[in-house]
Amino acid sequence: MTKKLRVGVAGLGTVGGGLLKLFADESNRLNERLEVTAVSARNRTRNRGVDISRFQWFDDPVELAANADVDVLVELIGGSDGPAKRAVETALERGAHVITANKALLAVHGSRLAAISERTEAKLLFEAAVGGGVPMVKAVKESLAGCRASAVAGILNGTCNYILTEMEQNGRSFEDVLADAQRLGYAEADPTTDVGGFDAAHKLTILSAIAFGSRPDYEHVRIEGIERVSLTDIRMAGKLGYRIKLIAKGAFDGSAVSMHVSLALLAFDHPLANVGGSLNALVADADPVGQLTFIGRGAGEGPTAASVAADLLDLAEGRGGYAFGRPLAQLAEAPRAAPAEFGRFYVRLMVQDKPGVVAAVSDRLAHESISIESFLQMPGHEGPSVPIVLTTQSCARAALEKAVEAIQRLDVVAEPPYVMPIEESGHRARTWSKG
Ligand SMILES: NC(=O)c1ccc[n+]([C@@H]2O[C@H](COP(=O)([O-])OP(=O)(O)OC[C@H]3O[C@@H](n4cnc5c(N)ncnc54)[C@H](OP(=O)(O)O)[C@@H]3O)[C@@H](O)[C@H]2O)c1
Repeated sequence: MTKKLRVGVAGLGTVGGGLLKLFADESNRLNERLEVTAVSARNRTRNRGVDISRFQWFDDPVELAANADVDVLVELIGGSDGPAKRAVETALERGAHVITANKALLAVHGSRLAAISERTEAKLLFEAAVGGGVPMVKAVKESLAGCRASAVAGILNGTCNYILTEMEQNGRSFEDVLADAQRLGYAEADPTTDVGGFDAAHKLTILSAIAFGSRPDYEHVRIEGIERVSLTDIRMAGKLGYRIKLIAKGAFDGSAVSMHVSLALLAFDHPLANVGGSLNALVADADPVGQLTFIGRGAGEGPTAASVAADLLDLAEGRGGYAFGRPLAQLAEAPRAAPAEFGRFYVRLMVQDKPGVVAAVSDRLAHESISIESFLQMPGHEGPSVPIVLTTQSCARAALEKAVEAIQRLDVVAEPPYVMPIEESGHRARTWSKG
């Protein structure tokens, strides 16, 4: 019988606890090939829902990584620096394999960790870091290995998607839904990483590196969060035939990689438009396979632990490969392009309801040679200013930004205009309407 791989688990919270529960199920295949022998967390006495008394205990995860008799360290602590980073580096340096769900760590220090892993021939696997239970990393790394990927676009943060879905379906404000999500434990007490778009950017960095064969480069992701979106935007977009989603998108044109996270309008028939609630999804475009879509549960104890378990079984069965799909030396320092310079855009303005406003706005856009595709005013809006929304025909973002600056200077404009890109696909509504 082959010797079982010995596993040390650092971090016994949502995902670490979930992994121990999978091991506690004796019928789980994990137990045929692997055994947990050591664990680490902050609080030894906390109830984890499983018996941890038979595992060697470490207060310090770095100590576990350095001294426990394990073949694999599973890092489920989190954070781009601190004990998680030190434990992962320590394990890789001594030749122990590492499995982690820590997207922040991989996005920021991915190249350095991959370099250690190659030097010591210890594997570094991280299916759970992107898309939780949805096998996005494996799909892009293995199934698309023979293709040329040109774009990956996803809904990669379940908290944001849940907030946007609740706002749209139940007419609730951003603040209201966020407060509820925090109370129910779906959102962190400090929600900045999620609602600021940073978590999605970490995941996009990892996916882009694997898909386009370039080094992970978090510094070059353009990141906008969801904080400024209002119910008015969601309703107006709906009237124009669109749904608003936080989209993380990487694109490769053969020489440059662009990456951005931002809210975008998707036509109802876009493959990501109907991914609701806390679900995650990825659409990958690759030649010659075409477009592929993956949807599922992007977080939570069970789904995320299941992805860690799949990586553990890969290790036990001798699979795994390079961290980012290719040796580091073959990963390009791809030139970075400014993302989405051209396209159609949504612009929301808060204006005083006076004659001539529409003409003044149109004039500023025309000055930058931007044509309006749709114009919409929400009837029955009360208050000193009213929202009007327009969508442009395809134009340069730089030109639109100039026009928006000029519009903002108009006396009748009450607050800075809010601009969102429109993601292209299928049906395009063309409207000139009031009400
Ligand atoms: N939750 C998800 O659905 C999900 C999905 C995908 C990826 N991830 C990633 O998975 C990782 C873990 O997330 P999680 O949700 O499981 O986090 P969590 O519930 O907060 O658990 C973190 C664990 O790390 C332990 N820990 C924290 N600081 C420590 C230290 N200095 N020394 C030793 N142990 C320490 C905590 O110990 P105590 O329990 O004693 O406090 C806890 O057991 C993160 O990288 C996260 O981004 C999570």
